[in-house]
Amino acid sequence: MQDPLFGNKLAAAILIALLLFFGLPQLANALFGGGHHGGGHGDELHLAYPIDFQVEGAGAQEAEKGPSFAELMAAATPAGGARRAALCKSCHTFDKGGAQGTGPNLWDVVGRGVASVDGFRYSSALTGAGGDWTYERLDAYLQNSQAYVPGTAMVQRVGKAEHRADIIAYLRSLSDAPAPLPAVAAGE
Ligand code: HEC
Repeated sequence: MQDPLFGNKLAAAILIALLLFFGLPQLANALFGGGHHGGGHGDELHLAYPIDFQVEGAGAQEAEKGPSFAELMAAATPAGGARRAALCKSCHTFDKGGAQGTGPNLWDVVGRGVASVDGFRYSSALTGAGGDWTYERLDAYLQNSQAYVPGTAMVQRVGKAEHRADIIAYLRSLSDAPAPLPAVAAGE
């Protein structure tokens, strides 16, 4: 016996499935067109929750690590770093014997003791960090100063590893005897 409502039930079931999948606003957009509400999203379909469209092979590539820090440093250029360091110059001088500004003079900072410039008033957070500015510590501090030294008076985030490497290559060049670059491990 044919259910007279079979067609309607089927349509309802499909609609509910679509609703579960896309969410109501997105479905309304998809069915009736997004432009009418002036949302500015055009006709793009925005999923209610992100769905991971894994393309074969892409995952494997992502899992592969990018260049190591030592490799980045080997490829970095002081000239590129000097340009990028423009953003530091509102607070730091870079020349030998340069004045202290909002931040300490950065001549010969690679290998220098952390918070060790005489006459600069460091935060207690940075004074308490101790040790020397190794390449890796400079990299971590420039990537997110507040995360690396919570409470430090400097707020800086240089997001791109290549940009940080250039800046650090520039800092390294500011020395009478630049420190050796970090060694690239065999097989890298
Ligand atoms: C808005 C001001 C400001 C800017 C911009 C700034 N810094 Fe700083 N920086 C500071 C201050 C202030 C300190 C001291 C932090 C403390 O005492 O906690 C500091 C400390 C440092 C130190 C530690 C020095 C030492 O003697 O221990 C390094 C390295 C450094 N900054 C590098 C940079 C670099 C590289 C840039 C540009 C990418 C930069 N800073 C941009 C204000 C700034």
